[in-house]
Amino acid sequence: MPNHCFLGFFIMSFLISAKGIQPTHGSLKPQKVQFQSRNFHNILRWQPGSSLTTNGSVYFVQYKMYGQREWKNKTDCWGTTALFCDLTNETLELYEPYYGRVMTAWAGSYSAWSRTPRFTPWWETKLDPPVVTTVQVNASLLVLLRAPELPYRNQNGKNTSMENYYDLVYRVFITDNSLQKEQKAYEGTQKTVQIESLTPRSGYCIVAEIYQPMLDKKSPRSEQRCVQIP
Ligand SMILES: *[C@@H]1O[C@H](CO)[C@@H](O)[C@H](O)[C@H]1NC(C)=O
Ligand SMILES: *[C@@H]1O[C@H](CO)[C@@H](O)[C@H](O)[C@H]1NC(C)=O
Ligand SMILES: *[C@@H]1O[C@H](CO)[C@@H](O)[C@H](O)[C@H]1NC(C)=O
Ligand SMILES: *[C@@H]1O[C@H](CO)[C@@H](O)[C@H](O)[C@H]1NC(C)=O
Ligand SMILES: *[C@@H]1O[C@H](CO)[C@@H](O)[C@H](O)[C@H]1NC(C)=O
Repeated sequence: MPNHCFLGFFIMSFLISAKGIQPTHGSLKPQKVQFQSRNFHNILRWQPGSSLTTNGSVYFVQYKMYGQREWKNKTDCWGTTALFCDLTNETLELYEPYYGRVMTAWAGSYSAWSRTPRFTPWWETKLDPPVVTTVQVNASLLVLLRAPELPYRNQNGKNTSMENYYDLVYRVFITDNSLQKEQKAYEGTQKTVQIESLTPRSGYCIVAEIYQPMLDKKSPRSEQRCVQIP
């Protein structure tokens, strides 16, 4: 029937135009809101909404500990144009779960809040590689390892190491440059490792990593330290 056809067309155009005048809230909503944490340095990061017109957006950040009723404003990131917010000082209870959330404002419109998954610093922080120094004594090599430090001092004003929070296992790898073959030289909890009877007039490179047995996680590898045995 022609009348039905006309009605169908009418409804279609109505739906299309209704979609067209829909407010842009959904598309302004920040995406991929999540904590990124290294050595308990906890940064909230997000991406702009899918709307193409988000240039000039500002963002508002709130956080809370799991179980708390009220969200707290993060004043330093209230109306920020950045796509991150440092929440290290707001997430100091390393065994407690937290949430963060972000809202966009653009040209007088506000998006809905976009929330992170639950974030527990102790479970989720990633360790930096150990700091490696080498001391060469004739044909042996002393490898000194240092665990990464927290971004803040403890109550006594001292640097605090990640060792205070995890059992750490250090792995040291050595490559004989003439053979181009890497071997594990050490795995254990000591931070001073001696590697002996290296071949004279050979070059060696050392790298190290940290392994967390309880979490079955390992750090990236350290920078290489290379030596020439006289
Ligand atoms: C975004 O805004 C800035 C400053 O207002 C302008 O220089 C830039 O060209 C804009 N970028 C886009 C993609 O519109
Ligand atoms: C957060 O900031 C907004 C805007 O300034 C204010 O209305 C609100 O009361 C603040 N919330 C808290 C918990 O301080
Ligand atoms: C965290 O708190 C310390 C000490 O109060 C302060 O020096 C530092 O600037 C704060 N960092 C951030 C990102 O707010
Ligand atoms: C290193 O080698 C020199 C010469 O062979 C020797 O005199 C010296 O005692 C060695 N040093 C160490 C710490 O073994
Ligand atoms: C403590 O940490 C600061 C900043 O990370 C660093 O510059 C300093 O060397 C550290 N001190 C010690 C004793 O490790």
